Amino acid sequence: MDKTQFAILVVDDEEDIRDVLEIALTDIGYQVFLAKDGKEALDLFEAQQPSIVITDIKMPVMGGIELLKQVKQRAPDTQVIMITGHGDMELTISSLKFGAADFITKPVNVDILELAVSKAVDKLIADQKLAEYTHKLEMLVVEKSKLSSHLSSLGLMIGTVSHNIKGLLTNLDGGLYIARSGLKKKNFTDVAEGLDLLAQNVDKIKQMIMDILMYSKDRQMNRQPVPAKKFLTDIQETMTMKLAHHPIAFQLDAAQAPQTLNIDAAFMMSALVNILDNAVDACLEDKDNPDHKISLTVEKNRDNLVIKIADNGCGMDVETKEKIFDLFFSSKQVKGTGFGLFIAKNIIAQHQGTVAVDSIKRRGTTFTISLPQKDQMP
Ligand SMILES: Nc1ncnc2c1ncn2[C@@H]1O[C@H](COP(=O)(O)OP(=O)(O)OP(=O)(O)O)[C@@H](O)[C@H]1O
Ligand SMILES: [Mg+2]
Repeated sequence: MDKTQFAILVVDDEEDIRDVLEIALTDIGYQVFLAKDGKEALDLFEAQQPSIVITDIKMPVMGGIELLKQVKQRAPDTQVIMITGHGDMELTISSLKFGAADFITKPVNVDILELAVSKAVDKLIADQKLAEYTHKLEMLVVEKSKLSSHLSSLGLMIGTVSHNIKGLLTNLDGGLYIARSGLKKKNFTDVAEGLDLLAQNVDKIKQMIMDILMYSKDRQMNRQPVPAKKFLTDIQETMTMKLAHHPIAFQLDAAQAPQTLNIDAAFMMSALVNILDNAVDACLEDKDNPDHKISLTVEKNRDNLVIKIADNGCGMDVETKEKIFDLFFSSKQVKGTGFGLFIAKNIIAQHQGTVAVDSIKRRGTTFTISLPQKDQMP
């Protein structure tokens, strides 16, 4: 480490002493500032923030002890070396009380001066190292607590997910049973119903696995220009499949969409499908209304890509709305893991975007996602 990285402020009312100290310290390589009394020194100290102050103990205007106090108040780590004369015993003792690092006596001996400065520098370097270690240690503690919270949520997730998989497996068994017995009886309506149940549950397992992978692998985002048409057609096809046997209309409005979207397509697809899945569930949950609709609107608003997903399903009350992005919050009992929106929000945040929710119980819900697209939109 370069010892001369520390600047030194020399304070003495005697010009000769200032000169001697300046020459000796500049020769070694230190940057030196000079002041003739405590007041001038304090101004210089504030402007230059030297790490070491060498000050005469007796000076007009503001003495060495007062300067020491003021310096320590402003920067407690500063190393202050006092220059003392004959008969300054009491002042010397009192400067000890206020945290002086060392003393040199008048007339100043250059070797002793160098030794005192070198000791002060060693102390500064040790302080610096200590601060670095402390900082590293703090970072490690933060990392460790992040890791353990990740691990504990992972454990919780495995529990919840296995529970859900059990439910899904029961549904698969049911689908298989219906399809098989339909085959036996040559009743193809039953076969179709069984296969449909199988397809729905395979789809759910797929989505769940995708979510888990995204959460646990912490894959790096890879944002790049993606043709909007292809991305939105993929979503439309997924929705057509999902809604094949449900009386829910799906409407895509991309008239105001840009040609290119600056997104990580796989991640964003997963986020939107999670929100759309919830919209489907909300419509199915709302059994009183026979006329259900889900819409996806994509438009450009200045530098933002705005995606709206609206449904006229069951909606939610204010208490539910506050919790929907929490990991494992679900109102769907065994049918939900409470993973979907947690993932979706994370993905949107990784795109530096925001998501807002409007919902009215029994009326429906609208999710509004805003993604900054700066410099990437045509
Ligand atoms: N469109 C919506 N309408 C009404 N309630 C919703 C809607 N979207 C989300 N919610 C509420 O938010 C909760 C959390 O949603 P989230 O997608 O995180 O979990 P989930 O759908 O219950 O389970 P998972 O998505 O893991 O299968 C839901 O259980 C539901 O109560
Ligand atoms: Mg969901």
